[in-house]
Amino acid sequence: MATPIENLAVVCVGRTGTNEISNRKVNMKAKSQIEPGPEVAAEGGAVRKPITLVLAAVVSLAGIVACMAFAAEHADEHAAPIFVKEIPPGYRDWKVVSVAHEAGDLNDIRAILGNDIAIKAYREGKLPFPEGAIVGRIAWSHVPSEENNKTFGRDQSFVAGSPTDFYLQFMIKDSKKYAATGGWGYSSFGKDGKPTDAASMQSCFPCHQAIKSRDYVFARYSP
Ligand code: HEC
Repeated sequence: MATPIENLAVVCVGRTGTNEISNRKVNMKAKSQIEPGPEVAAEGGAVRKPITLVLAAVVSLAGIVACMAFAAEHADEHAAPIFVKEIPPGYRDWKVVSVAHEAGDLNDIRAILGNDIAIKAYREGKLPFPEGAIVGRIAWSHVPSEENNKTFGRDQSFVAGSPTDFYLQFMIKDSKKYAATGGWGYSSFGKDGKPTDAASMQSCFPCHQAIKSRDYVFARYSP
């Protein structure tokens, strides 16, 4: 169970993005004060408990103040979270940009889709992508199809299986809101439709930077 202080730190991280490390420090410190190690408890828990509680209160207050100060200072730059937590509505009706297959550990097959703004830009060869463009990709496991193979009379058919652990990913263009990540807000969802963990979200922009020359989008339009 997350303590209220842990939750607070998470909220701070979510709101400010770049302050993650300092918030983690506050978070860890607060936690160690609330949950004294076994040696402290054994030494004379009853006597030390009130002190521990006071310390916890002071630390949590310091955490709140630090968090508020940072949020106020960076309100303009990071008014919105860098990472998007909602699946764009209607994405399953978008047009196809292309398809791709990743072998190795991923072993998936994927469809890359674009909303109308993205598709128009793709077809006109326009870069950078305009505001409001969303490029998405769906990934399914890459599996042989026995029923297709039976029809062909030999093993040659592979199809989309079940959703993968990184089922849905999107990049939404908003140059102001997501200025810190090249003008794109990244989002990623598992097979349960829930956002994937924070660590995976940290990886998106650093890797997509490799294709900065095409506005951070790898997929080319397949006519
Ligand atoms: C290690 C590098 C790497 C990381 C990390 C990474 N991507 Fe990608 N991404 C790629 C490559 C390469 C492609 C194109 C190949 C493909 O589609 O399989 C791609 C494709 C995409 C596409 C389709 C549009 C395009 O650029 O081709 C989206 C959307 C996307 N990634 C979102 C994300 C999100 C969201 C994250 C973070 C959760 C992420 N990516 C993390 C390398 C990466």
